[in-house]
Amino acid sequence: MTGRPQPAQGQIIHVTGRLLTSDGRPISGAHIEIWQCDVNGRYHHVDSSLRSQRADDNFQGYGRTITANDGAYRFRTIRPVPYPGRTPHIHFAAAGAGIERLITQMYVAGEPMNDRDGVLNAIRDPRARQAVIVALEPADGLEPRALGARFDIVLG
Ligand SMILES: [Fe+2]
Repeated sequence: MTGRPQPAQGQIIHVTGRLLTSDGRPISGAHIEIWQCDVNGRYHHVDSSLRSQRADDNFQGYGRTITANDGAYRFRTIRPVPYPGRTPHIHFAAAGAGIERLITQMYVAGEPMNDRDGVLNAIRDPRARQAVIVALEPADGLEPRALGARFDIVLG
């Protein structure tokens, strides 16, 4: 989040995790991208149906990084919020040499709309569904009042 004098609105979260093969090997040097709506439910980098909502221009809406030797990545962003028809989520894409581009979404445990979200519940396998729902925990060690989430992305 650079280039803006004001911070984005919303609860700061730090999302960390690793990109792994299906048998648990770390994938280094891969690109991880995230995108999500701002605190008002507006996307900045994809066409948004919510033009009536005021955009938070201080929210970047998109992030990109490269996984480390141990497959680790880290993003500082805001806690995702719901928008009409969707429970809170962050979009993720992973791509790199020798891996097929993977698109997924990260969800937050305990969100009341999780049970009714069509995209989340289209994941029929309960274990696979649980794997994309993460708990937010205090992350004061990283940043006062911030929350942290751990989201490992497993290919295949
Ligand atoms: Fe979305």
